[in-house]
Amino acid sequence: MSERKQPHGSRSRTPRFSGLTGKVLVLAAIFLMVGELLVFVPSIANFRINWLKQRVATAEIAALAVEAAADRSISQSLRKELLERAGVLVIVVRRDDTRKLVLSPDSPPMIDTSFDLREASPVEAIIDAGMTFMHGGNRVIGVVDKPSSMKANLVELALDEHPLFEAMVRYAINILTLSIILALILAALLFFALNRLLVNPVRRLSANMQSFSGNPEDRSRIIEPSGRRDEIGVAEVELQQMQTELADMLSQKNRLASLGLAVSKVSHDLRNMLASAQLISDRLGMVEDPTVQRFAPKLIASLDRAIAFCADTLKFGRAQEPPPRREMFALRGLVDEVLDLLITEAASQVVFFNEVPDKLKADADRDQLFRVLMNLIRNAVQALEAAMPEALSEGQVHVRAHRDGPACIIEVADNGPGVAEKARAHLFEAFRGSQRQGGTGLGLAISSELVRAHGGQIRLVDGSGPGAVFQIIIPDRLQEVATGRRGERSA
Ligand SMILES: Nc1ncnc2c1ncn2[C@@H]1O[C@H](COP(=O)(O)OP(=O)(O)OP(=O)(O)O)[C@@H](O)[C@H]1O
Ligand SMILES: [Mg+2]
Repeated sequence: MSERKQPHGSRSRTPRFSGLTGKVLVLAAIFLMVGELLVFVPSIANFRINWLKQRVATAEIAALAVEAAADRSISQSLRKELLERAGVLVIVVRRDDTRKLVLSPDSPPMIDTSFDLREASPVEAIIDAGMTFMHGGNRVIGVVDKPSSMKANLVELALDEHPLFEAMVRYAINILTLSIILALILAALLFFALNRLLVNPVRRLSANMQSFSGNPEDRSRIIEPSGRRDEIGVAEVELQQMQTELADMLSQKNRLASLGLAVSKVSHDLRNMLASAQLISDRLGMVEDPTVQRFAPKLIASLDRAIAFCADTLKFGRAQEPPPRREMFALRGLVDEVLDLLITEAASQVVFFNEVPDKLKADADRDQLFRVLMNLIRNAVQALEAAMPEALSEGQVHVRAHRDGPACIIEVADNGPGVAEKARAHLFEAFRGSQRQGGTGLGLAISSELVRAHGGQIRLVDGSGPGAVFQIIIPDRLQEVATGRRGERSA
């Protein structure tokens, strides 16, 4: 068999980044980013709190320096320098309800907002950090905290938010750079791990499927399971089993097809040769020699049978029977024609009963139904001939028919030995049902195919013997209803 054509592009490998690998990478990157964000937000809030606390500590040292000075008065320039070094604008210390301005410029600044570091909850800290970013460091903020190195209740500061904002931006950039490097490393690790564990095996599976579907008869394309114990390993084993079954089935079908072709060819040529032999034997029949007269009819009959057998085989070898050309006709006449032909067959002494009512009509292809009846009645005659060669005149074949609503039911009954158990198992299967010497096992298979083409069915109603009854059901074609609207859909 030639390699099947693939739909455009399906043979090419799935592109690396629009396939599974690309999706895995993008998903890994997104998840890592979400993870980083979840870590970053609280950490920047924490950074801000720590930065402010550090400012408080520096301010405490400046305040201690002022308090240590003699009579606690310092020059203006020293005050300015202390404030600048501490990075704050105002320092106030509170001790037991007395509030004391330790360091402040000449004109104290206006405070935009203030924060109490003692009771900042994590959520508030996050919100406050967001606000710092939003205002871009353009505020003067007040900070209240408990001093760590001074003997005091509280330290209050006022400071410019800009240095805090800049420090937070630097911190964010650092974290972002670190995150990106981390994400890249993790994504690469994930990429290699997933590729090894998942993507490559799946790609191997799909490549094998594509290759196998190109030529399912080529057994070298059946997948070799890798021996993995996970779901992919199971899929590989299942796929191997499926591919093996399919390859077996295909090679069997091919063998049968070529056998069928060979049989058809042999039958065709044999039929032609037998036809010439038939002509010669017809001439032989005219010779008046008594021995020749005794054997010539038998020779002619068996030649006839051989020709019919070849013709049947040829017909069956054709892809399909033509669709039935159906008409309404009186069934009794057709049965008479079949019986007439069988009666003229030399050895037949069987008694035939045509019990089909005169008025009964069948809706079928006349020629095809003729072949079906011929097969069934001939089978009955052959069964009787084989069972009772001496008392053949006692053999009877009854053909009956009746209507059951829109179906015509025909029965062929004989009083022979019944259908053998072995024959019943494959009765309507070509070449398999025959239990008769010289039979091919095609008669019932052909009959069944013809009846099914009429939408009907054929079955053995009673075959366990004595006698066998075959029944054919042929439903009439669907009639157009009076309004002529059958099958029309309402809008
Ligand atoms: N009326 C019957 N009585 C007993 N056995 C029957 C009867 N009809 C069919 N059979 C059995 O069924 C088998 C299959 O019949 P079928 O017509 O398909 O094949 P065949 O008669 O053997 O060969 P062919 O019809 O192709 O020449 C027969 O060989 C026979 O054993
Ligand atoms: Mg037969």
